[in-house]
Amino acid sequence: MSIFESLESQVRSYCRGWPTVFDRATGSHLYSEDGREYLDFFAGAGALNYGHNNPVLKAALLEYLGRDGVTHALDMTTVAKRDFLETFQDTILRPRELDYKVMFPGPAGANAVEAALKLVRKVTGRESIINFTNAFHGMTLGALSVTGNSLKRGGAGIPLVHATPMPYDNYFDGQTPDFLFFEKLLQDSGSGLNEPAAVIVETVQGEGGINVARMEWLQGLAELCQRHDILLIVDDVQMGCGRTGPFFSFEAAGITPDVVCLSKSIGGYGLPLALTLIRRDLDIWEPGGSTTALFGALTRLS
Ligand SMILES: Cc1ncc(COP(=O)(O)O)c(C=O)c1O
Repeated sequence: MSIFESLESQVRSYCRGWPTVFDRATGSHLYSEDGREYLDFFAGAGALNYGHNNPVLKAALLEYLGRDGVTHALDMTTVAKRDFLETFQDTILRPRELDYKVMFPGPAGANAVEAALKLVRKVTGRESIINFTNAFHGMTLGALSVTGNSLKRGGAGIPLVHATPMPYDNYFDGQTPDFLFFEKLLQDSGSGLNEPAAVIVETVQGEGGINVARMEWLQGLAELCQRHDILLIVDDVQMGCGRTGPFFSFEAAGITPDVVCLSKSIGGYGLPLALTLIRRDLDIWEPGGSTTALFGALTRLS
């Protein structure tokens, strides 16, 4: 029995499919402890868009550690946080005419999703969220409540409520996307769904099986949200940071979500970092309304 079988929890998952002990990694390759080279198609499930140990990021990281830069600061102001906010504004948001406030909700993608769900409920005073079949948004309770996978949902051990799944884009060739079922429920005051706070969607579902929503479907969804005064959350935790081409996966559809969740590759180097991007007028948090002790003080895009 290996050390992993005897000492690590049964919960371990991906490693069961790859019975190899990895030791080093550069660019697109991982190397096992016996020196065998593997092409890494997994790439941290979207956390390593810029490759393993990217030399540009490594140099910045080593320089930062070498000069004893702050590595834990809770949400204190630091030079690294200032550099990050300015660089993100100048290179990502402003060129795309996106006016988002940046929230650091905690280190994981699920933290970004939890913060988004809390905020849309706070802003609208409504409880219900619309999610989609096969969606994956994370393993914490709120994120699981908008996740489709029954095995993962079952892990919660309690009922997961206040979320209603709708069919994800069915992708029938040539068929115009329609939201008839969705519209019907919105009109039916008896359904309890007539006033959802928000819709949460992945433009391409990752964990749910690489399902690609059509541009017209995403545009129709954004239009429906606007017409019914429903906030639109795009979960770009896995598909953001260039994974689909442009920095944000929703850019190609020409839609502007009210809230965007980012994590994984925003950490640059595989380091944990998450952001919840909030339409400026929706940033109604009270100080400390959703803050945690951990976020990546190290991360810099420049
Ligand atoms: C779309 C999406 N949202 C949220 C998450 C959760 O991220 P984390 O595992 O960092 O909490 C994932 C993780 O795979 C994801 O793919």
